[in-house]
Amino acid sequence: MNILVVGSGGREHAIIWKLAQSSKAEKIYCAPGNGGIADIAECLPVDAVDIEGMVQATKQKKIDLVVVAPDDPLAKGMVDAMQKNGIRAFGPTAEAARIESSKGFSKNLMKKYGIPTADYALFSDWEEALEYLNNQKYPLVVKADGLALGKGVIICSSQKEAEDAVIGIMKEKRFGEAGRKVVIEEFLEGTEVSILAFTDGKTIVPMPGSQDHKRALDGDKGLNTGGMGTFSPSRIYTPELAQNCMEKIYLPTINALNSEGITFKGVLYFGLILTKDGPKVLEYNARFGDPETQVVLPALETDLVDIFEAVIDGKLDRISVNWSEKASVCVIMASGGYPSSYKKGYEIKGIEQAEADSNIIVFHAGTKKEKGRYYTNGGRVLGVTAVDTDLSKARERAYRAVEKINFKDAHYRKDIGLNSFS
Ligand code: AMP
Ligand code: GLY
Repeated sequence: MNILVVGSGGREHAIIWKLAQSSKAEKIYCAPGNGGIADIAECLPVDAVDIEGMVQATKQKKIDLVVVAPDDPLAKGMVDAMQKNGIRAFGPTAEAARIESSKGFSKNLMKKYGIPTADYALFSDWEEALEYLNNQKYPLVVKADGLALGKGVIICSSQKEAEDAVIGIMKEKRFGEAGRKVVIEEFLEGTEVSILAFTDGKTIVPMPGSQDHKRALDGDKGLNTGGMGTFSPSRIYTPELAQNCMEKIYLPTINALNSEGITFKGVLYFGLILTKDGPKVLEYNARFGDPETQVVLPALETDLVDIFEAVIDGKLDRISVNWSEKASVCVIMASGGYPSSYKKGYEIKGIEQAEADSNIIVFHAGTKKEKGRYYTNGGRVLGVTAVDTDLSKARERAYRAVEKINFKDAHYRKDIGLNSFS
């Protein structure tokens, strides 16, 4: 079978790494891919959001299965376009992906069907939003309705900050059309856990829980990033909690979508926060998480091609999805300055030495390969994943590998997977 994975990050590298282990995968393509993906798949120069170009490439390369990984092409209807052309594609339709691409849609869905989430109000008029801010408790959270490259969520400690956020998003259109509406919601306190789940719209199969470290600096300080490291399994996501979430959150979400006439097929990601009043949904994503995928897929024992096919065919109940008991830690190595401005084009050395340990996988994100050498090409450069029998061993192993890799101004957190992040 010929497979095409759409995207270019560490998440896509992890998906391809897993697909490559399947005896059913003959040739794997990636568009546009990166320096590390180029070692295990053929990269095609098609932009991840170029729907027409992707359909053409799929026909030209006689692709049997397309996996659409990033949020943008899903929200723009790449899976719908593939289906129209008779191509099998893994991922939700644009309508189903609204659970991520419109926060207003997902909040209204949760409210209508009693799924636990933060209290909120939705506005499409900035003056009304400003007026609402007069009678609120602070901190509170202002969110752009649409996709905003992970920057559309602003935690505001005062009314002034919230007013600035509303004006920036709605009046000045800092995130363009994504800011046509805003959600203003209650600030919740608790530990965040990411649950990725395979679903065919009827059956839902959650993967092991993982936790992401979003801030740039040790001790959860500094700016928010796309994620500086992850670990799995989560220590606080116990089997009892998983059962509770299945009953109160996962199945109700699938049922809610079905009641609205929407069949979600793909990976549904629950961004949970464990509050003193129980688990609540902070957000949904309509895709695999990055860098959650880099710690979850190494524990998957079932053939990923079989899972993707079962999801597409609506037969997820017919296969059993198995996981090893192993733990994984992924440390992101970023370009100095990320998530603000940073330079690109520095040579990366030591990847081979790090991977001499067979329990280390170096997933590439912002890299490119030229004449056999790797160069930095983005903010998050590498995700160094270690697999071991428990989290503390995986953590030590990951950092031993990270120390073997170097590029100019490399930055990484030293506290990924520490016990203090319970
Ligand atoms: P979202 O994209 O909605 O998940 O928001 C990104 C991040 O903002 C989350 O992972 C949380 O760290 C934080 N966040 C979002 N909503 C809230 C909330 N209601 N209370 C506290 N933190 C939040
Ligand atoms: N790690 C957060 C995300 O993938 O959205």
